[in-house]
Amino acid sequence: MLVKEKTIKENIVKISVIQGPNLNMLGIREQNIYGGMKLEQIHEEMKKTAEAHNLEIDFFQSNLEGEIVDKVQECLGETDLIIINPAAYTHTSIAIRDAISAVSIPTVEVHISNVNRREEFRQKSLISPVAAGTIVGFGPFGYHLGLLAGIQILNEVKAMQEQQQAAQPQA
Ligand code: DQA
Repeated sequence: MLVKEKTIKENIVKISVIQGPNLNMLGIREQNIYGGMKLEQIHEEMKKTAEAHNLEIDFFQSNLEGEIVDKVQECLGETDLIIINPAAYTHTSIAIRDAISAVSIPTVEVHISNVNRREEFRQKSLISPVAAGTIVGFGPFGYHLGLLAGIQILNEVKAMQEQQQAAQPQA
């Protein structure tokens, strides 16, 4: 029984959503840029979608770079996919980029605003080169798009693993 439960649990696909500095202020901060939705509402919507796809999802927000690095590291062996909006650290943090690189977990980068048409300093992401892909400029709906992109990535990984298993000679 224990073995069966363990097997079932291990088969659960997990997603970690990581939110950077000032995203706890969504709904208050610059609504003309970031929209009126609060972070909790965004997470609630993501939870519904994840549950509809039988996925486990957890949420983390921090204003501190080191805590985000710690969270990314903790994902190792625990999480199948990371969805991250590193917020202002997108443009500055080699540490977060290195952490994502180190854990080698497929990562979707999300930005609420269209950083490419804002100030020049926002137009460079240190995270994009280590992300599977980036969703930019669709407002809070970008998180939903990021989740759908993540589900697609997970399906592709699963199909590849199944193909590799099928190609292995039977013992
Ligand atoms: C942001 C864009 C960043 O430039 C900014 O510092 C943020 C939010 C976005 O989601 O649009 O805090 O990541």
